[in-house]
Amino acid sequence: MSQAADFIDLHSDYMSLIFDCRRGTPCILYFGKRLNQQSNHRMLEVLSTRQEPKCALAEEVPISLSPCLGNGFTGSPGITLNNTANAWSVGASLVDIKQTAPNEVCFISEDRVRGIEVNHQITLDLSSHVVIANTLVRNLSQQPLTVTDCAAPTFAIPDHVTKVLSFEGRWALEFQQSTIDLFLGAYVRENRKGKTSHDNFPGVLVHDEFANESQGECYGFHLGWSGNHRTRVELLPEQRTYVQMGELLGGEEIQLKQGESYQSPNLYVSYSANGFGELSHHFHTYVRQNLRRSEYTTNSRPVFYNTWEGIYFDHNLETMKQLADITASVGAQRFVLDDGWFKGRNSDTTSLGDWTVDEKVYPQGLSPIIDYVKLQGMEFGIWFEPEMVNPDSDLYRAHPEWVLSSEGNPQIMFRNQLVLDLTRQEVSDYLFSKISAVLSAYPDIVFIKWDMNRDINHTGNANGKSAIHLQTKAVYALIARVKSAHPHVEIESCSSGGGRIDYGILAHTDRVWTSDSNDALDRLSIQRGASFFFPLELLGSHVGPRDCHITGRRISMDTRIAVALFASMGMEMDPRELTSEDKDKLKAGVELYKAHRGLIHSGRHHRLDSNENSIDYGVVSHCKTQALFAYNHVLESRRTQPKRYRFVGLVKNYEYRFNLVWPTSLKEYSPSILSKIENQTFSGEVLMQYGMQLPITFVQTSLIFKLHKV
Ligand code: GLA
Repeated sequence: MSQAADFIDLHSDYMSLIFDCRRGTPCILYFGKRLNQQSNHRMLEVLSTRQEPKCALAEEVPISLSPCLGNGFTGSPGITLNNTANAWSVGASLVDIKQTAPNEVCFISEDRVRGIEVNHQITLDLSSHVVIANTLVRNLSQQPLTVTDCAAPTFAIPDHVTKVLSFEGRWALEFQQSTIDLFLGAYVRENRKGKTSHDNFPGVLVHDEFANESQGECYGFHLGWSGNHRTRVELLPEQRTYVQMGELLGGEEIQLKQGESYQSPNLYVSYSANGFGELSHHFHTYVRQNLRRSEYTTNSRPVFYNTWEGIYFDHNLETMKQLADITASVGAQRFVLDDGWFKGRNSDTTSLGDWTVDEKVYPQGLSPIIDYVKLQGMEFGIWFEPEMVNPDSDLYRAHPEWVLSSEGNPQIMFRNQLVLDLTRQEVSDYLFSKISAVLSAYPDIVFIKWDMNRDINHTGNANGKSAIHLQTKAVYALIARVKSAHPHVEIESCSSGGGRIDYGILAHTDRVWTSDSNDALDRLSIQRGASFFFPLELLGSHVGPRDCHITGRRISMDTRIAVALFASMGMEMDPRELTSEDKDKLKAGVELYKAHRGLIHSGRHHRLDSNENSIDYGVVSHCKTQALFAYNHVLESRRTQPKRYRFVGLVKNYEYRFNLVWPTSLKEYSPSILSKIENQTFSGEVLMQYGMQLPITFVQTSLIFKLHKV
């Protein structure tokens, strides 16, 4: 497409993003499938001609990247400002466009009357087809300026997009999909939990009526931010729709003096003409190439053992040795000492903040357990919850003023803990020195599970200002500081499970604890939801106890293994309770994982469109010569026979050998297809277009199929 001064084009070989600048504010004219050389701006311009409606504006106000009151926009302003003059009516006009590279542009706008500059920085990542966009506001005037709202760039979307798919949840059941039809007005989700939150994931898909995993047009949006946030999808009366996401700022959080600026978090956006699967593939590619630690491409992800659901606070050296013995014998490679190792921490009522080894429990420090774990051939990791303090702690007794609070308003307890004010430099320094001292004393620690187990209800810092913005940045800075002092240490983001999973924290961390629920059945929908934006290798998933501690559900070892395997696998139970049959299975499951994690952690993930009876997915290697697919039977069917299983993502004319690789023995009440097709070969075409008749299985059975090109 040819370039004209009034238009700015960003193209990848898959998509085009075209901005119209003719009316003095940059706005999206076209965003979708790549346009070819025959198409040009004039055509788009003519085809977008709209009539003056009855009883309405002569000319519609464009949905610019930051549509504002000053532009006459009557939807939600992209920017809301306040000062003692007239910043409320900001309406900036383009003054410059800097296209630093063919895939990168910065629109610079200014409101000269009010002394405000607005920049939109947009980059289209050419290999993943993900757009990274942010908005910056700078105060040019002498008056202090309050930023009430400054959303990331607003995206106008076409009107055949009528559905909104978002992700909601709660503790131990995160990332549940929810789909609604757009309606006249705004669909809004706001999060004020002070962290990404379990309930409202800052990500949304908008799509046409017919989109599913493998077809239809869809757009995905994710705000990379671990604090408060807002998502708005609005259908305006004149049949225009936009998506707007940004940080939800509290009160007077952002005050800008002359020359100072506020930049929104990055918004990550992508488009697919072929359904949700391809959209996720774009996001996964982006994460793998830009946010994922480089070692992920060269080193296999270890098999974790985490002590939490095994022993909770019941720590002692002998117990740890027993756990290490058994878990190493079934193949664990990284032993993570969870909560309970530090001074006085024998329950969740006490000691957060006192980050020194509990000498009563570990009189010789952690060396004996670390050495023992290493002797078993495992690495060692440890749990911290740096941002929190229990009132019953030495730290709080010494510094009760170090917590976030709000004067005159009583604190509300949440897991017996309060939130430290990391915006005080002395608090961040204290935490850094404590964490760093442990890591320096024990250089064999290679992993931190960094937890954050409460919402932030009282958000005031030492200056009496609401401080979630600064607190979130201070958390990022503290993690970055720990990492730069101890670069070999990997960090997992945990917040009572999946309460802090987003690209903001991912820029600083290496794994996420997807959910506190180790219930394999719940995990299927949790991991499915998370996989819309996150590749499997980042999602921690553990084989939990036989009777799930959170749901009480009893799930077979076979199924627990099958579900944990399509992720960053680990185990988390008291292994002393395992029967020898369980141990054999676990060992076999871990071996299967080790043999295939290279594929699972680098291949293309496919969610299959499933009915309510099963949750199905697969991973296909880049060269499409190998694949692993899972059928997870979760609900009894109303039919006498299960459905056919149609594979995806294969090459039509390749011939694949079929093997059932999990479970290693399956009890069938009558012979099924499985014995007939084991080790047979089939074309990719029949596997995809004809599919296979699934066997009749007990509910809660997971089958894993391997396809290998012959
Ligand atoms: C949170 C985490 C758990 C565990 C406990 C320890 O709930 O999500 O995995 O680490 O804290 O207190």
